[in-house]
Amino acid sequence: MSTPRNLLITGGAGFIGSHVVRRFVTKYPKYRIIILDALTYAGNLENLRDIENAPNYTFVKADICDADAVAKVFTDFAIDGVIHLAAESHVDRSITDPLSFVRTNVFGTVTLLNVAKEAWKGRFEGKRFYHVSTDEVYGSLHDDSLFVETTPYDPQSPYSASKAASDHFVRAYGNTYKLPFVVSNCSNNYGSHHFPEKLIPLMINNIRNNKPLPVYGKGENVRDWLWVEDHASAIDTIFHTGVNGETYNIGGHNEWKNIDLVHLLCGIMDRKLGRAEGESAKLITYVTDRAGHDLRYAIDASKIERELGWRPSITFEVGLERTVDWYLANTEWLDHVTSGAYRSYYDAQYGR
Ligand code: NAD
Ligand code: DAU
Repeated sequence: MSTPRNLLITGGAGFIGSHVVRRFVTKYPKYRIIILDALTYAGNLENLRDIENAPNYTFVKADICDADAVAKVFTDFAIDGVIHLAAESHVDRSITDPLSFVRTNVFGTVTLLNVAKEAWKGRFEGKRFYHVSTDEVYGSLHDDSLFVETTPYDPQSPYSASKAASDHFVRAYGNTYKLPFVVSNCSNNYGSHHFPEKLIPLMINNIRNNKPLPVYGKGENVRDWLWVEDHASAIDTIFHTGVNGETYNIGGHNEWKNIDLVHLLCGIMDRKLGRAEGESAKLITYVTDRAGHDLRYAIDASKIERELGWRPSITFEVGLERTVDWYLANTEWLDHVTSGAYRSYYDAQYGR
């Protein structure tokens, strides 16, 4: 059982990070939660607005690649636990700019590991470094098998290669320096505060604005979707009760072909926007496939269920309705994050 007093959460202003921060700040008032985030295009303090005045919440703007800044946070706040989510996270961006993924995901993670090792030197008792990773490190499935914790790594994109490298470094620090760590590898998340460069929020935003819905290739790629708050609850469970040195796969037992998912979303949006049935689906446009597009990801989450008693709490139907409701109630958030730099990204990715 890990019970930190001063918990550092990196990447806490991002999509998943903000849900993890909200959960920990409200559920554990006795922990001091320090959020370290560089506030890149994906980081947004609006994601944390509702909890920013909580007495146990502290935000530090810093880059995980800046060893001095990270070391200062460890000293100033006597950090005794880390949940590391900061990363470059979008596969398409990793195809156009792989080096920024090496910088943050590999160099940044090793910088953080090094600072933790030095700060905790000889006093590893009660400390924990939790590295949040992805199922993409296992590669692409071409049969009906599932990823288990022992599936050999076979990353196929610059993003997944950088995450795989970071996972290897975490385990190497555990083996070499005895740094106490846990790793989890999760499937695709969806939910509120998801940056609209990713499939689900991009489609919701485009449907609402009557813009084309860009489906890569034939739309036959399969992803396993998990509600982001269920990922946050899994992280909570693993952080507190996971065994040092172990890896836990997290997933939703919820596989969807992209094209079926887009049709499902169109149907929900037609209903919510009062459009005729089938209206939004007319916006579906097949576009050039993603380079090296992984065919299928699917997680076997039986280890975390069996050993730690975690399970997803809601069905996809309920989660998707909640998600669409959130975006329709927070169009200001969507308009804000899609102004400025998002527009040039969108034009470069999808053309005008
Ligand atoms: P995100 O892109 O929404 O957020 C990333 C956060 O990290 C942002 O707040 C950003 O400002 C911050 N950040 C980026 N570079 C930084 C740096 N150099 N220093 C400090 N902060 C920096 O990402 P997300 O989707 O919330 O993913 C969070 C983590 O979970 C990532 O490690 C990702 O690999 C992993 N993951 C994501 C998914 C998913 O479906 N989104 C699934 C499994 C695992
Ligand atoms: O599996 C976990 C991973 O899931 C995380 O590690 C990543 O950080 C996260 O971004 C996500 O990666 P994907 O590449 O699977 O997610 P994305 O939302 O970008 O794409 C989902 C699927 O939809 C994928 O098959 C590509 C397709 N797609 C995506 C976009 C943005 C489209 O068809 N059109 C699009 O415009």
